[in-house]
Amino acid sequence: MSDQTFYVTSPIYYVNDAPHIGHAYTSLACDVLARFNRLDGKRVMFLTGTDEHGQKVEKAAQAAGIAPKPFVDKVSQNFRDLCRTMNFSNDDFIRTTEARHVKSVQALWTRLAERGEIYLANYGGWYAVSDEAFYGEDEITIRDGKRYGPTGKEVEWVEEPSYFFRLSAWQERLMKFYEEHPDFIAPETRRNEVLSFVRGGLKDLSISRTTFKWGIPVPNDPAHIMYVWIDALTNYITATGFPDESLETYKAFWPADLHLVGKDILRFHTVYWPAFLMAAELPPPRRVFAHGWWTNEGQKISKSLGNVIVPGELVAKYGLDPVRYFLLREVPFGQDGDFSHAAMVRRMNTDLANDLGNLAQRSLSMIQKNCGAAVPAPQALTDADRKLLDDAAALLPMLRQTLAAQAFNRALEGVWQVVGDANRYIDAQAPWALKKTDPARMGTVLYVLAETVRRLAILLQAVMPETMGRLLDQLAVPAEARSFASFAAALTAGAPLPAPQGLFPRYVEPEAAA
Ligand code: MSP
Repeated sequence: MSDQTFYVTSPIYYVNDAPHIGHAYTSLACDVLARFNRLDGKRVMFLTGTDEHGQKVEKAAQAAGIAPKPFVDKVSQNFRDLCRTMNFSNDDFIRTTEARHVKSVQALWTRLAERGEIYLANYGGWYAVSDEAFYGEDEITIRDGKRYGPTGKEVEWVEEPSYFFRLSAWQERLMKFYEEHPDFIAPETRRNEVLSFVRGGLKDLSISRTTFKWGIPVPNDPAHIMYVWIDALTNYITATGFPDESLETYKAFWPADLHLVGKDILRFHTVYWPAFLMAAELPPPRRVFAHGWWTNEGQKISKSLGNVIVPGELVAKYGLDPVRYFLLREVPFGQDGDFSHAAMVRRMNTDLANDLGNLAQRSLSMIQKNCGAAVPAPQALTDADRKLLDDAAALLPMLRQTLAAQAFNRALEGVWQVVGDANRYIDAQAPWALKKTDPARMGTVLYVLAETVRRLAILLQAVMPETMGRLLDQLAVPAEARSFASFAAALTAGAPLPAPQGLFPRYVEPEAAA
């Protein structure tokens, strides 16, 4: 909330299905921001978890022939395992079936009811279980006698007593909120979509159902089960300790700095959620960023097409850190992107193996062979030396700025500019030739390179924590000197360095290797 804390959330994932690349992607983006802000000295909370109530999950449990609770226990564990597979640094993992959450949702409901924001009436309308969303008549299309919502999911007619939230009364106040907080919704195109949706008028929202059981009962009227989205969205405040607003964690972390979500769930986060919170007289989050969707080799990803990308399989094939790098480098965050084997291999072999990997390997093995396996002592620096070091130093403010805007690809592009400059510097300085003609100058060049690599490694820890950890080991940088507080420090001349090891293996097609 203050400059010293940073609270970032992923969506909580439906437990109807196994984790796929879409889930890994949102949480990865959160993880990189969480790690970056921790390195930058902030107190960080990164929250992820599972969304376990509602009809969609209830149906999935039925289809599996298991009662809902054991079913959600089992599937939720797969999402916890995903955190380990992807090396996510989440500080908490919330499940909506936990007692702390049930208490929090019921407290929020009670606050809304006490303020006259909820009333009982009858609902009649279209509902898509797959989206857990209500749709207006104007959003429905009919094909082969079946009705579909705007996302292409089948809808059914729902008619039953229901509690409503007075969303229509919040239209003006939401518009005012968006105007006063121009950074609340990003990217810009998504902000415009939401603004025009709200400008078009809001209807009151049905927030309870009586025809299914798997969810949180309405306080004082347990025949009603809460709409899964009011339940789910509340997870973001539950984890800070709500309804106990006197708790230190609540005060430190709410309102959240950033909810990262996919573009399909933007409306829930930027219309319903701030309306619920303002109606309950609680502060809305500071920012919601909606990212795009991945396709697989140009095709929409779907279970029926059998082309779902399983994170664990990607990691087994390409390695964890290359996958983390690829997902954030390949596609501007906010736009749709395509996962292809060819693009993945190109990034691995070019950006990682050739550019960054070789830079580190060339520099460190020359030091190993020619400088007695210790950091060489620099002599007077030339303009070229100073330029490279200054450009590497300037990456920290650049990253702070681009990552505050969630522009991961621009952040990485900027870092690779310096990686490229450093490789050109080696070629221009040709330290291998200086070995005979001017060994002192060779030492200076290798020092400048090692120091540049140290800076790059410290900065890239958020994206590739494991590999950059190994690189910092090779530079003998102690654990306590790896945060941004130590960024301006420098390698100590004379410090012994271990034998360098390759960081990024080239991807070789199995048939070529055979
Ligand atoms: N449970 C809700 C979120 C509640 S948040 C209070 C939900 N869950 S989900 O499991 O269906 O989806 C979670 C996220 O995965 C969404 O942000 C969605 O955009 C993302 N993705 C699902 N498929 C995706 C791709 N193919 N590509 C990128 N992200 C995608 O919605």
